[in-house]
Amino acid sequence: NIYGDRQNSLGRDYSTAEARDAHAVALKAVDAETLTAGPIIGGKLLGGTNAQDVTNPYDRAQVVGKTSDATPEQVDQAVRKAAEAQVAWDKLLGSGRAPVLRAMADTLEADMDRMVAILSREAGKTLNDGVAEVREAVDFLRYYAMLAERDFGGRETLKGPTGEVNQLVLHGRGVFAAISPWNFPLAIFTGQIAAALAAGNAVVAKPAEQTPLVAAEAVRLYYKAGLNPDLLALVPGRGETVGVALTSHPMIDGVAFTGGTDTANAINRGLANRQGPIIPFIAETGGLNGMFVDTTALKEQIIDDVILSAFGSAGQRCSALRILYVPHEAADALIEGLKGALAVQVIADPSDPKTDIGPVIDAESRENLEKHVARLEKEAKIIARGTLPADAAKGDLFAPVIAEIPTPDFLEREVFGPILHVYRYDAKKLKETASALAARGFGLTLGVHSRIDAFAEEVMALVPAGNVYVNRSIIGAVVGVQPFGGEGLSGTGPKAGGPNSLIRYASEKAISINI
Ligand code: SER
Repeated sequence: NIYGDRQNSLGRDYSTAEARDAHAVALKAVDAETLTAGPIIGGKLLGGTNAQDVTNPYDRAQVVGKTSDATPEQVDQAVRKAAEAQVAWDKLLGSGRAPVLRAMADTLEADMDRMVAILSREAGKTLNDGVAEVREAVDFLRYYAMLAERDFGGRETLKGPTGEVNQLVLHGRGVFAAISPWNFPLAIFTGQIAAALAAGNAVVAKPAEQTPLVAAEAVRLYYKAGLNPDLLALVPGRGETVGVALTSHPMIDGVAFTGGTDTANAINRGLANRQGPIIPFIAETGGLNGMFVDTTALKEQIIDDVILSAFGSAGQRCSALRILYVPHEAADALIEGLKGALAVQVIADPSDPKTDIGPVIDAESRENLEKHVARLEKEAKIIARGTLPADAAKGDLFAPVIAEIPTPDFLEREVFGPILHVYRYDAKKLKETASALAARGFGLTLGVHSRIDAFAEEVMALVPAGNVYVNRSIIGAVVGVQPFGGEGLSGTGPKAGGPNSLIRYASEKAISINI
């Protein structure tokens, strides 16, 4: 029963001294180490090209670890090794593969404090975001283990004419390229690999160039949990070099990608032009996520949910709220409330339990956000801005912004960070307002706050979205509870963490035997 006795991983409660002490110990241990990443092939960390330090986004003077990029030859070697090992793995069926995934889930869960510390140092994650991320990774592993057992049990006999045996079987496709983003450098990295492995594939994984260290840790934990190292290789580096070498390799049999819409399109064009079979491309990309409020909604609840949705994880979630649509009648009071709530957000060192908002991922991202703020100053109205600590310049902290925009289609695409746009709409023009958002072509998350069911239904019918949230925040989809993924420019599906997640990682074979 896939909806019944399944349980999601438990977290940490940092209001307890034990949890805070365990975190402090783990952070100290991680700080005393120099973490290492680089190409990992056949279980061995190899020297690559372009050796570089990975630094803490909150304090660029702190070197967290060292990495190097995979060369095109190493990418080739990784794919070939994976292809060889895949055959035996596929034969194990779901029942043979699920225990390895479950062992990885247990190994990762046991290492939660260390992983949270690494996520904070390498990716600027606050403690709560770090815990949520480890839990999500663990949940993906257990959920996909369950789907492996459900869907990959070998040949299923189909009903057919007498004198013939008809069977259907799902099996792995071969080698999957898994390309993951820096904003969920553990959860999405681990989840893509888990899905591909569960379906009987081997994997060559390229983590985001900003976050190779946590990826290398996760790969080592997969090995520690008992995975044959030949089934999983790590090829760190830039998309333009390593990503292209991987996705243009004639021996890959599928690509799982999470990242920007433009990159997804570039990969897709590359796949169309490469030598080799026609292969599945599973893409989860960006959104332009709106939340619609009406005058019946509860102000305090909206404020909490908006602050979390727009500024949680420093706005660096593809699910994050970008545009809040508020009717004229409710706008002034709500904006006042949001200003007050932003003023008390603590923007600081993400490894401190008190911090609400940590840094953005890198200087380039911070500079792009500041450019957008300059546009808002000219063409819109800045309503409020968070306060940075005095020493913010040592890293990439960015002061969050709330701005009022003059038109419902002011944004063409998402601005990836803690900037909330507010648009005052005329309740008589809901349809025009919502259609302006829908016309941008994205379809990831959508929020509605109202006490009238018909209002929620109307908004849902007007704005496409893979995940709709009514009277709550719009981030933090839970594996198995809110299967996650968009439509249109936001992705191909199938959703991650849902009952159909594995289908595109697999091939289907029908066998008919005349007896
Ligand atoms: N799965 C994540 C969320 O729901 C993606 O951003 O927030």
